[in-house]
Amino acid sequence: MSIQRIPAYLNRDTRRFLAAAVRSPGEIGAIAPSGRHLAACAASLISPGQGHTVIELGPGGGAITDALHERLTTVDTLLAVERNPAMAAHLSTTRSWLKVIAGDAADLPSLAARAGHPRADLIISALPWSIIPDADQRNLLTAIINVLNPGGVLATVLTMPVLYLPIVRQLRRRLGESFTSVTHRTVWRNLPPARLYISRGPLSPGAR
Ligand SMILES: C[S@@+](CC[C@H](N)C(=O)[O-])C[C@H]1O[C@@H](n2cnc3c(N)ncnc32)[C@H](O)[C@@H]1O
Repeated sequence: MSIQRIPAYLNRDTRRFLAAAVRSPGEIGAIAPSGRHLAACAASLISPGQGHTVIELGPGGGAITDALHERLTTVDTLLAVERNPAMAAHLSTTRSWLKVIAGDAADLPSLAARAGHPRADLIISALPWSIIPDADQRNLLTAIINVLNPGGVLATVLTMPVLYLPIVRQLRRRLGESFTSVTHRTVWRNLPPARLYISRGPLSPGAR
């Protein structure tokens, strides 16, 4: 759908998000962008001023990105990896401060290395896990783990309606097998309510 057909009373990020969601539902995998409480919950995982590298996967219209940016300081780095070309272009034009990488999160090791930040301390994922097939899920998790520092954190947004789908159960099982600890925080004030799965300390393949 063209963005011009979306009512102008919605903000530009939401309009861009909805246009992409209607045009490419199999890529966006959501009907609405994340709300500010969920974004704040994700941003609270940042320890600012430590020179950390934070990577957001699937930033979409920037709903979480802005909260991450607000919390980071100038010594920290934020990269955003977005596969949808229209969303990546939108982020680049609306957020001059953001390092946008137009590409597939499955290629994260090479994309991050090319951007000069081969290792991340925190990865925030709002990827649409409920519509990602099993083999791609495995590849994405491997790519993420290969980029995280030892002791690094992966925060994964999962909305409540998809939590018990077999493919999402599989993801939660894999998180448990791949990290030292997995906890979650529930954000009821989001549409739909969501959980942030916080996975700490990626395990090396031999330790799993
Ligand atoms: C559910 S939307 C989340 C958007 C935004 N972060 C939010 O919370 O409102 C998922 C986003 O992930 C992007 N995406 C899907 N698969 C991807 C992939 N393999 N690599 C990078 N981005 C991807 C989609 O284009 C979309 O922008």
